Amino acid sequence: MVLGGSAPAVAVRRRDHYSSGPMTRQSTAAGLDEVVAATSRICYLDGQRGVLAYCGHDIHDLARHATFEEVCHLLWRRRLPTRAELGDLQTDLARHRALPEPVIRLLRALPPGDLMDAVRTGVSALAHHDPDAGGDDSAAASRRKAVRLTAQIGTLVATLGRLAAGGAPMTPDPALGHAANFLYLLTGDRPGALAARAFDVGLILHADHELNASTFAARVAAATLTDLHSTIVAGVAALKGPLHGGANAAVMRMLTAVGDDADDRRVEDVIRGMLADKRRVPGFGHRVYRTEDPRATHLRRMSRDLGEQTGRPRWFAISERIEKLMKAETGIDANVDFYSASTYHVLGIPIDLFTPIFVVSRVAGWTAHVLEQYANNRLIRPRAEYVGPEYPQAFVPLADRQAPSAQAFAPGNGGRRETGADSRWEVPTP
Ligand SMILES: CC(C)(COP(=O)(O)OP(=O)(O)OC[C@H]1O[C@@H](n2cnc3c(N)ncnc32)[C@H](O)[C@@H]1OP(=O)(O)O)[C@@H](O)C(=O)NCCC(=O)NCCS
Repeated sequence: MVLGGSAPAVAVRRRDHYSSGPMTRQSTAAGLDEVVAATSRICYLDGQRGVLAYCGHDIHDLARHATFEEVCHLLWRRRLPTRAELGDLQTDLARHRALPEPVIRLLRALPPGDLMDAVRTGVSALAHHDPDAGGDDSAAASRRKAVRLTAQIGTLVATLGRLAAGGAPMTPDPALGHAANFLYLLTGDRPGALAARAFDVGLILHADHELNASTFAARVAAATLTDLHSTIVAGVAALKGPLHGGANAAVMRMLTAVGDDADDRRVEDVIRGMLADKRRVPGFGHRVYRTEDPRATHLRRMSRDLGEQTGRPRWFAISERIEKLMKAETGIDANVDFYSASTYHVLGIPIDLFTPIFVVSRVAGWTAHVLEQYANNRLIRPRAEYVGPEYPQAFVPLADRQAPSAQAFAPGNGGRRETGADSRWEVPTP
């Protein structure tokens, strides 16, 4: 089954169009597992072989040889840029990196809290100040918004990091690339080549990942033909969750709880305890990969190299121990979030910024998918299998209604299912 924007999908829908009564039987796997929900020219993903490619270019080649700016061009234009095109894009990004003053004032006024909430608010606020705001949703305007927003989000996240640490916002340096600018805007110091390149590779690895939850959310929003900024707000909202982008921060919280002075025994006790309690170990498992996540290969190396070069090798050593144990006990591989945690940590980035940094990169993929959806659109509107109270129910007048018993909301009773998700993210304290 294909939903949203391809010829075969239209044919299927038309056939069903006149018989769209209630859906009463299970027709799709939970979580849309293995459902093909769009056609796309952007990301090639083979979970069996562990292949990830943007527009045909293997992620390993891109991580070794490209920059984030080249990857942005690739995702938006479906090919790598020439030197002149790259220069134009770099100039464009540099021109738009600064945040409008009213947005900085708004960020300053926000109460302390989850920085992903502030990113969501910041993206929404940027929409009001975009030069194409106010109704120009043409393809050309949406492409301009994609470039602007990608340029601004790096500054937005770095500024939030500075404000949270009690610092003052910095002005972007037009001489620096996107990755180096981010570190400069966050720390106030121009980064060394190794740190800038490590961060650049991190941005490349996170830039796109086919129909992951946040990209799907952004495409669903785009399919209503809402404006580009609104689609990215939808993406940010979905990315925040601990089963998605929130996992990298959860990994670092777990590592911190284990402690960098922990011996192997302590590491194993913590992980075995989590598994015994049926809790998910953040940074492991994936809906699509059945082998190593190719992004984890690079992040593992980066975590090791940066740990050695900064004189803080323990976080990598502990991570490696956890990975070996998880493989032996469950057969589950590390995903992109596992080694990105220790990599960002030794780069000096605070945990609260880990998931916002994912946004700095993924905005390139989200906007590429949104532009693709706009270009060949059909409203995405699936059906739900109805499992509620039998139809029709008698209408009881307000005065005669009784409060339902607690059981009426229990699972399997046609009621709401509470997952108790919070407890799965508790990390044992040392
Ligand atoms: C990413 C994730 C949501 C994929 O979930 P999924 O495709 O629905 O996988 P399933 O829930 O079907 O998992 C299959 C089995 O592996 C187990 N499993 C999956 N990930 C696990 C993890 N991180 N820790 C422990 N067990 C895990 C499940 O409990 C399940 O076991 P069961 O069959 O005994 O119930 C899941 O692996 C997860 O929660 N990982 C941790 C969060 C994370 O790192 N997210 C970032 C992803 S890039």
